[in-house]
Amino acid sequence: MYPKQSEQHYYDKKISMSDNLVRLNQRILISGGAGFVGSSLAIGLKQLHPDWTIICLDNLRRRGSELNLPRFKALGIEFTHGDVRFTDDLDPQVLDVDLIVDCSAEPSVLAGVSSPQYVLNTNLVGTINILELARKTQAGLLFLSTSRVYSIAPLSNLNIIETSTRLELASEQTIPGVSYQGITEDFPLDSYRSLYGTTKLASELLIAEYRQSYGLQAIVNRCGILTGPWQMGKVDQGVVVLWLAAHYFRKSLKYIGYGGTGKQVRDFLHVRDLLRLVDYQLNNFDSLDGDVLNVGGGRYSNLSLLEMTHLCQEITGNTIKIEPVTTERTGDIPIYITDCDRLQQKTQWQPKIKPQETFEDIYNWIVAHEDSLRPILA
Ligand SMILES: NC(=O)c1ccc[n+]([C@@H]2O[C@H](COP(=O)([O-])OP(=O)(O)OC[C@H]3O[C@@H](n4cnc5c(N)ncnc54)[C@H](O)[C@@H]3O)[C@@H](O)[C@H]2O)c1
Repeated sequence: MYPKQSEQHYYDKKISMSDNLVRLNQRILISGGAGFVGSSLAIGLKQLHPDWTIICLDNLRRRGSELNLPRFKALGIEFTHGDVRFTDDLDPQVLDVDLIVDCSAEPSVLAGVSSPQYVLNTNLVGTINILELARKTQAGLLFLSTSRVYSIAPLSNLNIIETSTRLELASEQTIPGVSYQGITEDFPLDSYRSLYGTTKLASELLIAEYRQSYGLQAIVNRCGILTGPWQMGKVDQGVVVLWLAAHYFRKSLKYIGYGGTGKQVRDFLHVRDLLRLVDYQLNNFDSLDGDVLNVGGGRYSNLSLLEMTHLCQEITGNTIKIEPVTTERTGDIPIYITDCDRLQQKTQWQPKIKPQETFEDIYNWIVAHEDSLRPILA
């Protein structure tokens, strides 16, 4: 059974879902562990399982990641300054772990256009180095992949209807793997998808090879947008925090593409909902080994930019200038909603945090840390 006290301690909510025996005294490496997802998982897992040793490895490239180091220290989470591009930083003698959660990445689609070499070296060579570490230590690997593995051309050709506040998936679709519920794992993977998405899909293929050839145990989560407190939102990554922070700090924004109306739609998942899933996965690794499944807020949690604006206005009390730009951004898509039916059938997991609560959580975090966040988010 889960340690009940830690559950209450973390979020005052029941966040665990497994009745299976919890793995004891695990040593877990979280690469990219000082980033948004890595740090949220590290802190959440440590609070759920105080006996687990959690090591966060990060090169601190993402601005704001350094703010997590004192949080780690306070909880007894180990931090190693390291870079997944370099094998010397992933020494199996030093990092002799039971499980690896790979959250290290350059996660921006636009970075693939401006810094392709960094994206390739971190997201692809980095995966190879992590796989080698897993092979040598016989650790299980939980890999954070992305909805961006799905091809852009079919995603741009969905049957879409326009309402007064958003684009919406029509109930009739001709492309496989899409319905009103969103995009499933059967959606086409066979044309371009951005360099970022390609490094992630290539990583998934390599993971499959390591499973087959070396008996690696691995789980792949293809995540839609993830968000929550401690995400250092910026123009090219972390749109929910970007939107709320711009309203809070009274900065301007842009509705880019799709007529400049802000009707493009994304689903988003609160990182606390992701933690609940990852905790379950780490504790049930044997039975979930080999899974490559979509993870996201789905129909439960999705908004258009315009709808986000209304929510941000309501929460912050501020109205800001939002400039319409009609030209679309490279690699952009009009709507993405995750269909996680397969994951839900298998694990009974489902998102529990509604958009309003997600936005309020982020707002409260910005208010509580305004001084340290202003130089990063404003
Ligand atoms: N945030 C999302 O919406 C989202 C959605 C789908 C998938 N993902 C995936 O989740 C994972 C975590 O994303 P995130 O949102 O926390 O991003 P993030 O940028 O907040 O965190 C990534 C961390 O990796 C570190 N890093 C970058 N290059 C590195 C390198 N070469 N060596 C070591 N560390 C390095 C960064 O400093 C940063 O702390 C990524 O793999 C990303 O692709 C994120």
